[in-house]
This record gives sequence, C-alpha cells and structure tokens, in this order.
Amino acid sequence: MDLRDSPDAAVLRPPPAAPDSVGSFECAEESAHYAFSVQLLLTQYASLVPWRQEGVAELGSGDARAIGQVVRTQPGLRVHGTDISATSVQRARESIAELGVADRYTVELGDFFEWADSPAGQRIATAIANPPYLPAPDGDLLMPELWGGEHGNDLVLRLLKAGFEHVLVALPSYSDPAETLSTAAHLGYRVANFLAMGLEFGRYSREPKVLRHIQQLVAEGRGWAGDDEYVVAVALLTRSPEVRDRSDQVRRALQLPG
Ligand SMILES: C[S@@+](CC[C@H](N)C(=O)[O-])C[C@H]1O[C@@H](n2cnc3c(N)ncnc32)[C@H](O)[C@@H]1O
Repeated sequence: MDLRDSPDAAVLRPPPAAPDSVGSFECAEESAHYAFSVQLLLTQYASLVPWRQEGVAELGSGDARAIGQVVRTQPGLRVHGTDISATSVQRARESIAELGVADRYTVELGDFFEWADSPAGQRIATAIANPPYLPAPDGDLLMPELWGGEHGNDLVLRLLKAGFEHVLVALPSYSDPAETLSTAAHLGYRVANFLAMGLEFGRYSREPKVLRHIQQLVAEGRGWAGDDEYVVAVALLTRSPEVRDRSDQVRRALQLPG
C-alpha cells in the first residue's frame, strides 16, 4: 500500500505553498520523517518513556502540522510545544485548530530552554525535537531561527544538557553528529533506537553560505554529506540503563567512520 493513500498519513503530503514561507520552516519530507519516527519510537518504547502519563515537551514546533497528525492518531499523547518564531506559532495554532487537537497540543511563543527551566518544564521527563541544525559562521540566514551555531549542533547539545531523561531528536549527518553522540554518552544517554533516512539538500541547506560551510565541516571530518544529500537519524536517547545501546549503529547510519 502506498502510505500516502492512508487518511492518517496526511503528514506525508507536502503542505500547500505559503505566501511567506521564510517565516516558518517548510520541508515536508523532513517533517514527515521526524513525525513518523516520533510516533513509532514513542509507541515502541511506551513502557520506557512516560509520555502517556505526563506528555512530552517539544523544542521548535514549526507549523505543528507533522506532530499535530501524530497527536491526532495517538489519543493518549499530549505535547507542550515552544517555538521562538512568531510566524511559526501563529501557523502552529492554525494547524492545531484544523486538526482538532487543541486540547492536547499547545504551542507557546518563546525560548524552549527558558520554559524547560520553569517548574512546568521540570515536571516533564521527555523532550522531542527536530531542532535547528544549519551550520554557518553566523545566523544571518534565510531563516535565522534555523541556525545551529558554527557546527550546527549547538541546540541539540543544549537540549542534551537540559536534564531530560529521554530525548527524541533528529540528528543530521552534517552537523558534527560524532561530537553530539559523544556528548550524549558522556551525559549518560544511550541510543535506544533510531530511524534514518537519506534526504536531498533543501532550500535552507542549499543557501550558498550554509552549503559552503557544510562542505568545509565535511572536509574537516565533522560530518558527512554527499554532493546533494545527507542523512537524518531520528533517535531516542535515554538515560535508562535498561536499554541496549545502539550508538554504534546510529553512527554507521550517519556515515561516520568507525
Ligand atoms: C527545523 S525546524 C522544525 C519544525 C517542526 N518541528 C518540523 O519538524 O516541521 C526548527 C524550529 O525550531 C525553532 N526554534 C529555534 N530555536 C528555538 C528555541 N530556542 N526555542 C524554541 N524554538 C526554537 C525554529 O523557529 C523552527 O521553527
């Protein structure tokens, strides 16, 4: 069966073109991979990750279309999202209303890390994110909110240090994933499992300043990218000692040298 024919897989269809697409992240394939992986990993690891009891926190909801579909198909799931972009939050609220999940998915305007430090944030053990990961010398980009620092992994490193027990996060092959994974291991995280997918460069990674920087990072051995492609692994990292650690497998999927 073609998954795109399933009514619950609307997440896989490209969104309609928006008049001001730079104000909000748009990459249908990547968002679908993220959402599909979140759904599969949360359901497969429901006995480990307490999402049914306390919900999950989301760093960077974007237009919320993809995770909104997951919330719609998982009646036990509640998501507290945060996004730093006002346009994204406005679009997120529209998507959430259209999908009829406003009682279980909320998106707040602001910095995720401030919210994560608040008493409400500290009550939640699980964070999910397709975080900003564009590597570039500075944040003067097509969509500045997607800047991930010089190596692209600033936001994921902050997320790992924020104290969550479980982090379900997209790891791109060109944003120094070796450093991200070794920091995760140092902080006590294991890779419980992951889904990896090859993606073509999109409008944000093709921006000349970003593309040049990606090529430089790859030449320095800080990641992998082909001529027009890279890999994104959406991984469940957990501090639980009960799971088998698949960090070697995710490194291979991200094309990192052994
Ligand atoms: C790659 S997009 C992902 C959007 C959406 N989750 C998806 O996959 O379709 C990353 C999002 O993170 C947001 N963002 C960047 N820094 C943030 C921060 N400190 N706190 C909250 N959101 C942030 C950006 O505005 C952007 O919408």
